[in-house]
Amino acid sequence: MADMIAIASDHGGFELKNALVEHLKKEGYNVADLGTHTADSVDYPDIAARMAEAIRNGEAERGILLCGTGIGISIAANRFPFIRAALVHDAFGARLCREHNNANVLVLGGRTTGPEVAFDCARIFLTTDFLGDRHARRVEKLSHLSC
Ligand code: RB5
Repeated sequence: MADMIAIASDHGGFELKNALVEHLKKEGYNVADLGTHTADSVDYPDIAARMAEAIRNGEAERGILLCGTGIGISIAANRFPFIRAALVHDAFGARLCREHNNANVLVLGGRTTGPEVAFDCARIFLTTDFLGDRHARRVEKLSHLSC
């Protein structure tokens, strides 16, 4: 089980984020809710940066990010070289993003994914290990990309 899970969303993921916080706490996880804390409109790049800071500072080992579709906030999060954010819509993606990509941030869409699927994705993301081996070589290449 991952030690501390950071979770953050913009207004588009606000409701699902709150449901996930409650669910994960009930499941026994330590959850740091980085906001947003109201339904007011906020900018997803700012939220992604907040998550990046928490992971860079070691406040959390893994994170969950949400926006309306999950698209904007995953684009933003992946600008940070130490973040591997995976936008996931089902259990298969949740498993493979850990096994193959060593994703450290799960991304969900508050307007595209229902709570039960989100809970399932979060559980799998938080309990599945990276397979390493050939996947480690590929993940390592992510840190040295240039053109
Ligand atoms: C906000 O309306 C919406 O654009 C945002 O939550 C997200 O879906 C962007 O990708």
